This record gives sequence, structure tokens and C-alpha cells, in this order.
Amino acid sequence: MRAGVFDSGVGGLSVVKSLLEHRIFEDIVYYGDTARVPYGAKDKNTIVGFSLEALEFFKNFDIDILIIACNSVSAYAIEELKAKASIPVVGVIEPGIRALKNKVQDKQKNILIIGTKATIASKKYEIGLREGGYKNLTSLETGLFVPMIEEGIFDENILQACFSYYFKELKNIEVIILACTHFPLIKNKICKYFNGCLSIHSGEAIVEYLLENFKIEKSKKETTLKLFASDNPKKLEQTAAKWLGDFYPKKRK
Ligand code: DGL
Repeated sequence: MRAGVFDSGVGGLSVVKSLLEHRIFEDIVYYGDTARVPYGAKDKNTIVGFSLEALEFFKNFDIDILIIACNSVSAYAIEELKAKASIPVVGVIEPGIRALKNKVQDKQKNILIIGTKATIASKKYEIGLREGGYKNLTSLETGLFVPMIEEGIFDENILQACFSYYFKELKNIEVIILACTHFPLIKNKICKYFNGCLSIHSGEAIVEYLLENFKIEKSKKETTLKLFASDNPKKLEQTAAKWLGDFYPKKRK
């Protein structure tokens, strides 16, 4: 099976990493709209417009499914993409909600959702979780993490300063939804700040969702990865080599 993976920039590589780890697909075509990232601070109409342009880009490839790695696009443009696409389109929010329901049976747990302005403003996670009976939900925009991670800034002092800026009012967080492509890269540090809380990661959630909902036979051979970016494709390649580590496929275009 061949997949397209769309993100606003390089962050969707965190989802690609999970797909590669589980050998879900034979071929992956990745497109990051690096010329126009970040999407998370933009309004709905802009995000929908950019996402539909990306859909046109994927029409150049013979793919069986389109995965929307970006939470902001999943929050604001998934219906429009599904309506216009001739192949299945899967965003990360429904899988994230399902993953949480599978992992957390106690509906009283204190759950924190962190994401971009668009993802948090859409209330998609909150609505889905409230429908599932979860009561103690806090949603928080933590957009500053995105450029820091893009820049490769993982300095402990800077991170801790950001954590206390964003999280200082929060008490007894037990589960955290990393509702942004970039946040898995600082997952361990965030979870440590909250005394080892449980976390939900879009990449892992989508793997579970795909295996449950589509007839996918795990690929026996190494996945081929084609990387495309609307700006600075070299930087995307370099970030992929760094972020994907051992999972960075040898087989390219
Ligand atoms: N990919 C975006 C997301 O997951 C983060 C970066 C952006 O704001 O575009 O929401």
C-alpha cells in the first residue's frame, strides 16, 4: 500500500517515523508546505485553502491513502479534504481520541490537550473526549514549542522556562495529548515535568487506527520514502535524516 503524508512543514516526520517503525506502507510520499509553515496560527479559511492545494500536489502520485499528519489541518480542513479526494483521507484527531479511549478507562483522569492555536480553537479533541464521558479536560495553546523544535533548540533551561510559563497553573495532570506534530520530540521532557504522566502521540495513534480500520498487511520490505517541500527541500532531507534516525530509509526517490 502507498501513502501520501501531508504536513504544514517538517513536523509530520514524527508521524512518518511511527509509520516506518511499524512498516505500515511500501511507499510513502511526504509533502511539507515549508514555505507557508506555521499553519497553526492561521485562520480556518487559509488552512482549508492551503490543504486543498496540497491535495492537488498529491494527485501527481499513485497513492492509496492520504494521511494528514498535521493536527491543525486535521482540526480545520479534514471534511473539505475528504469531500474533494478520491482516496481515503485520515487525519490524526479521531485516531488520537480513540487511542486515549483505549488507554484511559477512568473518565475522571485529568487530561491536558496541548496544540497550536488552530487545533485548540477548533475544540475537536475536547468535543470528542467529552462525548466519550471524559470530564476533566484542559486545553492549552503552546505554539512556542513549534519554532523551538524546528530550530533544534532542546536546551534544558529554555525548555523548563517554557514549561513553567505554560504549565505553572496546572495541577495533577495525569494524561497529556500531544496534539501537534512537533511535540513528540519533547515528549519525555513534558511527561517528566508532569511526574511521568501518560501521553498520546499522533504517530502511534494513527498506526493503531490504520491497522484497525484498513486492510493493511505490514510491508515485508523496507519502505521507500519520497520527500517533497514547498521551500528548502534540503532542510527537510536533513531534518528527516536527523529525526528518523535508524528508521531513515535507504531507499529514496
Ligand atoms: N504541523 C502543525 C500541527 O501539527 C504544527 C506546525 C504548524 O503550526 O504548522 O498542528
